[in-house]
This record gives sequence, structure tokens and C-alpha cells, in this order.
Amino acid sequence: MNAEQRKKRKTIMGRSIALGHCVCDPRKPCPCPEFKEYDVCQCAGESMPAKPIGEIKLTEYVRSAGCASKIGKKDLNEILSGLPEVNDRRVLVGSASGDDAGVIKISETDDDVLILTVDVFAPSVDDPYTFGQIAAANSVSDIYAMGGKPLTALSIIGFPVHDLPGQVMQDILRGGIDKLDEAGIAVIGGHSINDGEVKCGFAVLGTCKKDAYIRNTGAQVGDVMVLTKPLGIGIAAFAIQIDRAEKEVADEIAESMSSLNKIGAELMLKYNAHAATDVTGFSLLGHLSEIVKNSKINVEIDFDSIPLFSGIANLARQEILPGAVERNREAVPEELLDFTNLADAQKDILFGPETSGGLLLFLPEYEAEKYLCEIRKSGNKSAAIIGKVTEKNEEGKIIMKTKKAEEFARLAPESSGCCDSSPATEEDQSPCCSPTTSDNESSCCCPADTNADEHVVGTPASAANAFQTYMASVNQPGAINKKNKKLIALALSVVTKCGPCVKINTHAAKEAGASDEEIAEAAAMGIAFGGASVAMFYNNLK
Ligand code: CO
Ligand code: CO
Repeated sequence: MNAEQRKKRKTIMGRSIALGHCVCDPRKPCPCPEFKEYDVCQCAGESMPAKPIGEIKLTEYVRSAGCASKIGKKDLNEILSGLPEVNDRRVLVGSASGDDAGVIKISETDDDVLILTVDVFAPSVDDPYTFGQIAAANSVSDIYAMGGKPLTALSIIGFPVHDLPGQVMQDILRGGIDKLDEAGIAVIGGHSINDGEVKCGFAVLGTCKKDAYIRNTGAQVGDVMVLTKPLGIGIAAFAIQIDRAEKEVADEIAESMSSLNKIGAELMLKYNAHAATDVTGFSLLGHLSEIVKNSKINVEIDFDSIPLFSGIANLARQEILPGAVERNREAVPEELLDFTNLADAQKDILFGPETSGGLLLFLPEYEAEKYLCEIRKSGNKSAAIIGKVTEKNEEGKIIMKTKKAEEFARLAPESSGCCDSSPATEEDQSPCCSPTTSDNESSCCCPADTNADEHVVGTPASAANAFQTYMASVNQPGAINKKNKKLIALALSVVTKCGPCVKINTHAAKEAGASDEEIAEAAAMGIAFGGASVAMFYNNLK
């Protein structure tokens, strides 16, 4: 630290100490934890030690990922209901209709109208560039869902500038800019804010002809429903966060989330869709129920024809589900739904939050096959017809059928000793017996790989104590003398690539009388059993 920096720190710290509060974060006492732990005064413009970029996992910087970070629809409706109504004759679609985007006339004479939308969320993937792409694809999707053509965009980003290197923010924005370039538009500005949590999104402006925009109402008897991307993003993202998903699932959903709904939207205009929306945070049923209510129709859906990401059925069967499933369920009136013969896991999937999901569109039956054929030709293999509009009904109803309910039956909780003694039914299953919780302190829970007969429930702290006692005892000289024990410990430290252990045991072996040659031979034994990467580790350490 140079004299100038030191002076700056002294001034800032002086102010903080006099106030008893940290001046950059008044909730923290002065000196703040970062100063005590890392000797860094962020208020004086000093930065936290940078993590190597490859080690940064974006989802560790969020509380709820992707569209799960949305405010529940029920809460949102309540909050928004107190606001003044839009009273402007130029507005063609305002917020009251719950459409994907707003639509406004430029003038009475202009043939084109403007479509506006904004969407911001927290990352559901770890890679910054991919996150930027997803945020962009998701934001522009609302323009596509209205049948619009995007024109330009502004970026909005929340970023913990003191905790993460600026390169990460640049990568996020570059991902967004590249994706919007693919959509044919430029990002012409934006706004950033120093935020405890990473967030990104775009405000997108689009256009279309005066009478051409497609709303979340207007579906007609005889229409069929097409869904253009598989369901299960929110469930998979949650499973990834708690380490319960296969690696392939992560790649599969990342690719889907970052793909544009551009072609699906262009074809939707070509084949005269009557109504459309994109499936995002409020789930398939959340978004579909709006169209059903607004259009005053009954729809019949075949669950078995709905495309799902791989592994989603199994995750739902194990009740690996994000909390947003419940919020979404509460937001859809029960009278609207008729799906008694569906398994619970199937219902959960239908209420799962999606991020940058597909288009859900209603179009005349005679156009649907052509639509599907063309969208498949473009490379989209998932798009499918999932149901049809059967009749007019003032109240609206969603009738859902399946022939595969047994395939979605709940899996029995993983056998874990104590939980077996009280067989839980689907409803009254105690949460601590469910396979999703394993580190619970409740006495009912035991780690899946513990033998029920001899397991002892202990805290991590008591386990650490027990381990230390064990270490101390095996380290004592016994049949093997002290020097040889230390040499063995050294060889093992090398092969397990434990840097601090190598230092301690080299020192201890010397103290016990080992020569430099003996130490080199012990290390060589470790290298012999560990191979090239251990050799590199040891040579680096030396
Ligand atoms: Co939308
Ligand atoms: Co939106």
C-alpha cells in the first residue's frame, strides 16, 4: 500500500470509527468484517483479493435462481392492484391484461406500433457468458410472444463489484450482446448497480403492424396448442443447485434457455396464431390459465405429449422441487383445473417455474402440422402439439389427461433406517424423511450411507473432535518408530496432494532425525504411487 492509499484509508476509517458504522455499509459495525479478515477497506476503494475466474460459480451469488427469483403471482397481483390504472388512449395493451409486453401507438397515422418489455433475474447457471445469453434470450422472448420484431435493447445489471472481478460482469454483458446480435438487434445502452446479488436482464423494444400483435387472449374453438420447448427448467436448476442432477441435464437446459424463440414467433405469424405467450416463471399452468380465462374456453391437454427435459420425471418423483412450484400452484384457481387422474409428480411439473421457456401458442388445427413441420426443419426437435380447444366456456377450464400416471408415481424415500419404521404416506410424509434432506439435525434423520444399527447422531463439531483424537493416536510411535511414521506421513501427504501436510511432515521427519536423502525417498514413493500430477504438485511446492 502506498502513502496515498494509506492516507485515504485513514480518512475513511476515521469517519467510520467516529460514527461507529462502516460508511460503505451502515448495517455493519466499524471496522467491518472484510477489514478484520482481509485487511481490505472497500470504502477507500480497495478491492477484495480476486478469486481466479475459473473458480467463480455465479449461482453461489444468488438466493433464488432464474425465474424462481420472481415474486409469486398471487403476491404480485395484490401489490399491483393498489396502483392507478393506465389512462392513456395511445396504450393498446397495458399492464392490467397480464400480457407478455405492453403495446403503444406511436401516432394515429402510423402503421407500426411499439412493443416494450423488461425482464431481470438472477443466474440459474454458473458460467457468466451463458448467463448473459440466457438473460437476453429470455428478455427478447416477450417481444416474440407478442408476435413482434425486436428493434433494440438496454441492459440492466446488478453486480457485487467488490466481491467479483469486473471480467465476470463483462462476460455476462458480452453473452447478452452476442445473443441479441443473433436476434438482429444492438444493445444501445444500459444501467448497472452495485448489488449484493448478481442479476441481469434487458429492456427490449420491438415493433409490429397495428393489428398484428398476438395477445394472451383470443384462442378459438378448433385451435390446437403448440409448445415449442420442453418443460422442467426450474426443477432441473434446483436439482443442480443441491447437487442432485446429472451433468448432462445442466448442459441440456442451458442450451434450451439460451436459444431464441425467434423462429417459433415468425412461424406463429405466418400460420395465423390466435393467441400466444411464452412459458416462464409462472409455469405452464400459470401462463395457460390466463389464456383460458381471457379467451373463455375449455382446453383438453394430453400430458403424455408435453415435451420434458430428460430426468425431470425422476426428479419430480423424488420431490426434488423448488419452492416456486407451491407459489405457482396457489396462483391458479382450483376451479379452473380438472386433472384428477394425474400423478402428483405430473402436476408438480406443470407448476414448475421455467426460465426462458418456449412459446405456447394457439393456432387453427389445419395450420398446426405445417407449423410443426417448419419449426422442426429449423432444428427444433422438441416442439409438439399438446392439446386443443374443445368448447366455449365463460369460466374456462383446463382438462388434463394421461395414460402414464404410474410412471410418475412417487419414489419411496431412500431407505435410511429410522424412516423405515414409520412408513410415510404421500401426504403426511415428514419432511425430514424425504430424500431431499440429509443434513438435518432431527433425530429421525440419518445420512443415507449410515448403518442404522450402529449409527450415532453427532454434530459436525463432535465428529471433528473424534477425528482429531484418532489422528493423534495413530501418529504416536508404536511398532513403527517416530522417524519412519513421519516419513510415511510425508509420502501419504505427497500422494494426496495436501500442501500444508507436506510442509508439516517434512519438518516433523527432520525433527525426528530423517536425513534429506530419506525425505527425498519418501516423497519419491508418494510420486511413484500418484503419477505425473503428483510429481508436478510436489515440484511446485518445493
Ligand atoms: Co412472457
Ligand atoms: Co416477462
